[in-house]
Amino acid sequence: MFNPDSKIYLAGHKGLLGSALQRVLAAKGYKKLITRSHKALDLTDKQQTEAFFNAERPEYVFLCAGKVGGIIGNKTYPADFLQQNLAIQTNVFEMANQYDVKNLMFYGSSCTYPKLCEQPMHENHWLTGAIEATSMGYAAAKIAGIIGCKSYNSQYQNKRFICVIPNSIYGENDNFDLENSHVFSALIRRFHEAKKAGNTEITLWGTGSPRREFIFSDDVADASIFLMKNSEKLENQHYNLGTGTDYSIKTLAEKIAKVTGFTGEIKWDTRKPDGTSRKLLDSSRLLALGWQPSVNFDDGLATTYDWFKKHYD
Ligand SMILES: NC(=O)c1ccc[n+]([C@@H]2O[C@H](COP(=O)([O-])OP(=O)(O)OC[C@H]3O[C@@H](n4cnc5c(N)ncnc54)[C@H](OP(=O)(O)O)[C@@H]3O)[C@@H](O)[C@H]2O)c1
Repeated sequence: MFNPDSKIYLAGHKGLLGSALQRVLAAKGYKKLITRSHKALDLTDKQQTEAFFNAERPEYVFLCAGKVGGIIGNKTYPADFLQQNLAIQTNVFEMANQYDVKNLMFYGSSCTYPKLCEQPMHENHWLTGAIEATSMGYAAAKIAGIIGCKSYNSQYQNKRFICVIPNSIYGENDNFDLENSHVFSALIRRFHEAKKAGNTEITLWGTGSPRREFIFSDDVADASIFLMKNSEKLENQHYNLGTGTDYSIKTLAEKIAKVTGFTGEIKWDTRKPDGTSRKLLDSSRLLALGWQPSVNFDDGLATTYDWFKKHYD
């Protein structure tokens, strides 16, 4: 059973989610963490991946490595998002199966739900309609990953693969590059720079009315550990992971303005597209197992902004 003496491979430990897992696992006394930087181990390379699993023989794997980006990155490089994520998950799934990993956790994405999905989005709504076009390459790889987890479990009649769909994650080590950032980190950077430049106004895309659900990275890490510990109780299906609360982009912008100290006017360029109007997950299937998020949104935002200020330059 998953415990502090388990040998764990944390793939993608320098990223937003991987670094949170490293922090939370260490705080809970897990001592045997195996990590490799992207440079040291390219998981799109099957030979490197096999040599690593053969040498290290991890018992548990958290697969946080992947190509992740915002709208601009996804629109510009859809083939890269598709190919790299497919290659990483194909190699790691195959090796986890071949080298008898006890459990592997895979992270799907809310963009695999239909664009016009009923809200909140329940696991049963999955693949019931067309997905959003802008992130099609990334979403297609994630759909293949979710089906992959279920297929391995079903073919080998075990519960090795655990699949979680977190909503939009925020926290330390997020990507604040404007081409690759998500709305949360992009707004932090824009407001911080506007405040620093002494600007009296800032213009944001769209109407500000779309609603999004955000979950702090440490909560995703905590839920991941909870699911690893409870793997025997899980069904061969994916689990949504969210807080149950969503905010309009306008409210998000106002909260970020406050935390960054920006007091100018927030203007909305309504000629720019809004995107999907709402993306709230129904996480009741996970909550029924006995887990719940513990980080309040305003506290998580303040922690993230503190981290950003220390590391931005
Ligand atoms: N962020 C979200 O809101 C969110 C929501 C739902 C699901 N997820 C999923 O959660 C997982 C983690 O996301 P994240 O936001 O933590 O991503 P992230 O911050 O971009 O971190 C990804 C990590 O993977 C590494 N990596 C990329 N390609 C690799 C390769 N070929 N071989 C080895 N390592 C590689 C990256 O290293 P380099 O930086 O050196 O390339 C980076 O350390 C991803 O599967 C993502 O799809 C994320």
